[in-house]
Amino acid sequence: MRAAISESYGKIEDVVRVSTVDEPDLRPTDLLVEVRAASVNPIDWLIVTGYMRVLSEAAFPLRLGSDGAGVVRSVGSEVTGFDVGDHVYFRVAPDRTGTFAELVAVDAALVARAPASASFVEAAGIPLVALTAWQGLTEQAEVSAGQRLLVHGGAGAVGAAAVQLARHLGLHVTATAAAEDAAWLQGLGADRVIDYRTQAFEDVPGEYDVVFDTVGGDTQKRSYTVLARGGTLVSILGAPDAEHLGQLFGVRVRPFFMRPDGGQLARIAELVDAGALRSRVDSVFSLEDVREALTRSASGHAKGKVIVSAQA
Ligand SMILES: NC(=O)c1ccc[n+]([C@@H]2O[C@H](COP(=O)([O-])OP(=O)(O)OC[C@H]3O[C@@H](n4cnc5c(N)ncnc54)[C@H](OP(=O)(O)O)[C@@H]3O)[C@@H](O)[C@H]2O)c1
Repeated sequence: MRAAISESYGKIEDVVRVSTVDEPDLRPTDLLVEVRAASVNPIDWLIVTGYMRVLSEAAFPLRLGSDGAGVVRSVGSEVTGFDVGDHVYFRVAPDRTGTFAELVAVDAALVARAPASASFVEAAGIPLVALTAWQGLTEQAEVSAGQRLLVHGGAGAVGAAAVQLARHLGLHVTATAAAEDAAWLQGLGADRVIDYRTQAFEDVPGEYDVVFDTVGGDTQKRSYTVLARGGTLVSILGAPDAEHLGQLFGVRVRPFFMRPDGGQLARIAELVDAGALRSRVDSVFSLEDVREALTRSASGHAKGKVIVSAQA
């Protein structure tokens, strides 16, 4: 079968290629899925460039791709609850990547039925970002209805999921984003949008109960003052000096990595079908053009998800 692989760490254009590889082995707890669409996440090209090797060394040749949607082709001997032909979506385990391919094997515990109202292209863009937003809001910040939330990077894939899920959970949502994305974000449920290019977000001290940071750096440093005492800073980009700054400002600091979770994806599929969460597609690339897809995501300015499809 055809699959995107990386031969070593390096620049996307130098080390990523599409190759003919063996079909994946099916473990007893796995589903073998015909991938109809897969989405690019920053983690995919951060692994290729070697940025993630401080946390985990990659084994080469490395099959690429973390998020996928497709049709179950076969079911492992110990799997219950799924049948051949089911439409599913998933974020694979970090040590078993490979959704930029015709077939992928994935542990059934990480899989859920795809939202009935979403195309494969739309469904493929949901798992990693929606799980990140859901876990950040409900497990890290432990949000409750009525709280005031600031989402940094509201127009990004994770940010937009956080805006929508927070709105669904009854929070008052402010997002930072470029002015051109303001109307779209308000359509998703943001109560207020601050143009990060021209406006400061930190005019009112203690304005928010929770900050969900998908931008990091200086934006994160400037965020401590906008939190009420006892508030929570959730970061998906790490949090330098978290202990010291948390104590200084009297806030909880929660940097975290998302985890794949089929049970949560089943709940998220219900929210998609109820109209509470929409996926925005920036562009669709064929599998053979996977380098262009990774490069588009790495620009940092895609408007929604970049999709790779062996059938595009
Ligand atoms: N810890 C985890 O588990 C986890 C999970 C998922 C993602 N991540 C990380 O989170 C980051 C975001 O991921 P993503 O998939 O959402 O990326 P993305 O779709 O590329 O979105 C990036 C967004 O950030 C916006 N942005 C850039 N600078 C900004 C600023 N100063 N203020 C406000 N918005 C700004 C961009 O807006 P413009 O278009 O205006 O430039 C863009 O909308 C990545 O670094 C990724 O590696 C971590």
